[in-house]
Amino acid sequence: MTKQRENWSARSGFILAAIGSAVGLGNIWRFPYVTYENGGGAFLVPYLIALFTAGLPLLFLDYAVGHKYRGAPPTAYKKVSKPMEAVGWWQVMVTLAIGAYYASVLSWAGSYIFFSWGQKWGEDTQTFFFKNYLETADTLAFGFVPHLFFGLLIVWGITMLILYGGIKKGVEVANKIFIPLLIVLFTILVIQAIRLPGASIGLDALFTPDWAAMTNYKVWLAAYGHIFFSLSVGFGIMLTYASYLKPKSNVIGSGIVVGLANSSFELLAGIGVFAALGFMAQSAGVEFKDVVSGGIGLAFIAFPKLISSLGAGADLFGFLFFSSLVVAGITSMVSILQVPISAFQDKLGWSRAKAVTIIAGGLAVISIGLFSTHSAIKFVDIIDHFANSIGIVFGALLSIVMITWFKRSKLFELEQHINAISSIQMGAGWRFMLTIVTPLSLLIAFVLSIVSLVSNGYEGYPTSMLLIFGWGVVLLFILGALALSQLKDHE
Ligand code: ALA
Repeated sequence: MTKQRENWSARSGFILAAIGSAVGLGNIWRFPYVTYENGGGAFLVPYLIALFTAGLPLLFLDYAVGHKYRGAPPTAYKKVSKPMEAVGWWQVMVTLAIGAYYASVLSWAGSYIFFSWGQKWGEDTQTFFFKNYLETADTLAFGFVPHLFFGLLIVWGITMLILYGGIKKGVEVANKIFIPLLIVLFTILVIQAIRLPGASIGLDALFTPDWAAMTNYKVWLAAYGHIFFSLSVGFGIMLTYASYLKPKSNVIGSGIVVGLANSSFELLAGIGVFAALGFMAQSAGVEFKDVVSGGIGLAFIAFPKLISSLGAGADLFGFLFFSSLVVAGITSMVSILQVPISAFQDKLGWSRAKAVTIIAGGLAVISIGLFSTHSAIKFVDIIDHFANSIGIVFGALLSIVMITWFKRSKLFELEQHINAISSIQMGAGWRFMLTIVTPLSLLIAFVLSIVSLVSNGYEGYPTSMLLIFGWGVVLLFILGALALSQLKDHE
């Protein structure tokens, strides 16, 4: 590679950006609804087990590969072994799918900035979200919804501007401003949530482990499917971010900070949403589990309720909260797209501007087309499910197995590499996790997901819709991985 690789200006810049990537819609929008759908307290224990047996070990491996081989997944993995390049491209394909729908959810959050003034969502926040705002149709409908279109246009515009700005000027600056802001606002919101009447009903549901429900394998699948998305590992993001670190960087120490920050945020979001749901259940006089139907819109139903409960401060607070949510999401969105951009730059020698224009611009067109329709939320739901339970899980599994089982000497080299620059050391425990525990849990999760999708479908969606937007997307991952790994390296 002839051109000098970009760098973070300081370790703090990297940590903030890595936290900015990890903390996003995954924590605030996805975690609470996945937890709710999987029985609240039944989910937390599998979640924590998934974090320690798979999420964190893989985070360190991603950092090691990215930092040692200094590239996005395809070029970095290729240095481990030639066939691994296809795994890298698979991960790139996954980021493209996630980036497309992530923009959509971000644009919803953006619209809620404006709905906050005067709490335009009214009393029935659920009907407002699905019917008035998303204009969701009962069946598959491609009809155009103009306000969704404009929202998406703005989200893609901002994302591309930051990406054009590059690592130091774009990504780093955005994170430095907005992560601290989000932490402050979010803490205030959660404190308000737990003071509401009925909050304890929700908190009980979140923190009472339901051991019986844990025998349901779907809860485990959801936990393993979520942890990678949330930590931004297994689909190239942390790997790519680590590739921009300077040679002497405390990689493991940074990883621990990022992992802890991410899970704390996630739990905080869970507390806020569940407390709000408890409040809603008590005021409506219904059972907790019946308080809202369908999980995917949960954050857009619960947070508005909470904000309305603030009385005089609601306008300003809602405005600030949804703004910082958007920014947390933008910093993650930027990190998601950084993977394909960096991959094409590394492989074809494109300039950043060219990669952003072609890759992000092209994806924007698809994303805007698909998610400005009356079926937007259904597409989000299906693509999100397949991208996580198959796309991320399978890509993570392959990357781990190909290193720890087939290129064992590289695993030792990677361990030496990160130990030499880090304050905390990895050792036999880490290798054992990555060689046995993580791959086996992923393999089981992956096989069970496929069996469940084939035999039961997903969330009652028609088979034709699952074939196109679920299995069709998986087919694209396969074709993309195979085709792109045939590209020739630039001179
Ligand atoms: N890790 C990012 C999130 O949680 C993708 O939103």
